[in-house]
Amino acid sequence: MTTTTIPREADWTEAPTLIEGASRLELTPRDCDLDYWFTAVPQGTLAGMVHGHAPNARVPAYMLEAGPLREAIMNEFAFRSIAEEIATRSITYIIAAAPDVYTMEFFGTQLIDEARHSRVFRGHLLELGVPEQELFDTIWRISGDDARAILHPLEAFALPLIRDQRDFIAGVVILTILVEGVLAPAAELSERKWRLLDPPAAQIERGANIDEIRHLTVGSSTVRDYLREHPEAKPHVLDIITRGRQLWATLPTQDVIIKRELFFQAGLEQHADVVGDYEIWPGKRLIDTTPEERLIAAHTWSTEMQNSRLTYMGLPEAIP
Ligand SMILES: [Fe+2]
Ligand SMILES: [Fe+2]
Repeated sequence: MTTTTIPREADWTEAPTLIEGASRLELTPRDCDLDYWFTAVPQGTLAGMVHGHAPNARVPAYMLEAGPLREAIMNEFAFRSIAEEIATRSITYIIAAAPDVYTMEFFGTQLIDEARHSRVFRGHLLELGVPEQELFDTIWRISGDDARAILHPLEAFALPLIRDQRDFIAGVVILTILVEGVLAPAAELSERKWRLLDPPAAQIERGANIDEIRHLTVGSSTVRDYLREHPEAKPHVLDIITRGRQLWATLPTQDVIIKRELFFQAGLEQHADVVGDYEIWPGKRLIDTTPEERLIAAHTWSTEMQNSRLTYMGLPEAIP
């Protein structure tokens, strides 16, 4: 009898946090080929999970009633399900432009991961009682304006490069540095915020964040190796990073995140008994945090993670 060993970084209980894993681990497309993915993800991270969480995780009754906490999760997960769908569709162009079978296989697995994320975020809205036939209308009613304001401009920035010019490294840089690298701290924060208040939601985040460790580390090593082989591409890569950051600065991201945090704060205060002394990070009880403090914490994680990743990629010039 053979037994398969789940790699530690993909093990539900053993994997590090997203920020820690994405800052410290090193994985390459050759490490994370299709065989790795089948063992690590469907038979590893996701073994025994149903709809992205443990089968016995239940949505608490208060989440099914109208109120700010429900508003907060609906807002967050509706937006995430649209974002993950757009990411999935965009990755098709990265796969098409991949220079070798290793990167082709890896981004093929990332495509399925992102499609799964969209599905489980959407699925949680069903668990919250949204009728199936109203699901997509509900998602677009809640988050359509935010998606049009944030996700569509990012898509309009990426598609001419990855779809029309088949610029592989531009696609990886946009995905790894400008999209996932920027959003990772918010995802880490979300997992910690919902752990007791909506356990299935937090587990769905945990599963997506374990995938994200792999996406960020393999994306980083892909950029690093590409720049080693093509040092002449560095100005082009730096230009994409600069233009991408200029674009982000024009997008109303803070408004969207603050709206979500204010709903969460109101809900948190209503359900203080559920969170008790739970600490969102060592030494800090969730109940004692404010929306501003949580956003500052996420911003700090973001800067630390980005700086260590950019140095690793051989792009210290891009550290702001
Ligand atoms: Fe994702
Ligand atoms: Fe991802």
